[in-house]
Amino acid sequence: MDLLERIRSAAKSHNKRIVLPESMEERTLEAANILLEEGIARIILIGDKEKIISLANNKGLLNIGKATFIDPMEHEKKEEYIKLMLELRKKKGLSYEEASRLIEDPLYLATLMIKAGDADGEVAGAENATGDVLRPAFQYVKTKPGISVVSGAFIMILKDQQFGENGMLVFADCAVHPDPNAQELAEIAVMTAQTTKAIAEMEPRVALLSFSTKGSAKHEMVDKVVIATKLAQEMAPEFKFDGELQADAAIVESIGKKKAPESDIAGKANVLVFPTLETGNIAYKLVQRLAGAEAVGPVLQGMAAPINDLSRGCSVSDIVNLVAITANQAAG
Ligand code: ACO
Repeated sequence: MDLLERIRSAAKSHNKRIVLPESMEERTLEAANILLEEGIARIILIGDKEKIISLANNKGLLNIGKATFIDPMEHEKKEEYIKLMLELRKKKGLSYEEASRLIEDPLYLATLMIKAGDADGEVAGAENATGDVLRPAFQYVKTKPGISVVSGAFIMILKDQQFGENGMLVFADCAVHPDPNAQELAEIAVMTAQTTKAIAEMEPRVALLSFSTKGSAKHEMVDKVVIATKLAQEMAPEFKFDGELQADAAIVESIGKKKAPESDIAGKANVLVFPTLETGNIAYKLVQRLAGAEAVGPVLQGMAAPINDLSRGCSVSDIVNLVAITANQAAG
């Protein structure tokens, strides 16, 4: 069984409730049909039940009737969720009128359902931009205790098996936090090590990347990576981190030995932590397109409950995989 099959199979055993707020989006509806047919998760669709069923019938999606449907305009918990929103955003001055308007937005409703314990996780983003999916999650679900920043990791499955762990590497942050400081970068490294162990099933060997290897260049951007490496190692002594390393020194054994002979990560890294979102996002897309790698994710890490954001270019199987990952994250 390959990794994605194992992820889907584990999700089935957890039987979690995953909410999909973009229920009239056709790839999402097709994915929901597969998820329900295969029993990968219990699916909650937000929207008008009649319209969703009619679209599903037109497309021959016969399992959609097994979902739970929540109409954002009218459901029994609307007032309860508005009250919860007012409590959580009291300090931000949220008014009753604004909360009443926001709760009718499926992306807000989905996060409130999670906060209230009525769903275990959420997947969205096939039609909404990243910021619109993440903002309600940041505001109402928030980060895990001890973590200040949410980030996004990709499991990169390469055709060339000589890199990482038999061709598999985890990249982060490729999706969320534009310009992390040293402390935030350390948190991203630790969260990515945890994701690597829990979801990619690998013992993480984490390289914090830079344009310098072990002092070959001097710059404040390099200093940030050096400090972050030290902080990450202090935060999570159970994992192995090293930095600053250039990408070739991190993944090519002969170059790692030459540029960082003392390092037990150089040349063998299976986790690459990028210094900024620009570098991480560009790198994952280039590896996906130029090397033909499969990019599974982004898996959002650091959130108090699993909420995952799709790329708008996603395929039906990307959605199915991300729901399965979300269900596994929800199982802890
Ligand atoms: N982790 C945790 N909380 C955060 C984070 C973060 N990374 N970023 C913002 N927040 C919180 C803030 O603390 C704030 O909380 P508060 O309202 O309780 O005070 C709330 O979220 C809103 O903060 P803003 O600073 O107003 O953030 P904004 O909503 O403007 O931006 C966003 C957040 C949308 C995630 C922004 O950082 C962003 O656009 N990032 C890039 C996303 C992106 O486009 N990625 C590339 C595409 S994805 C892909 O290719 C796979």
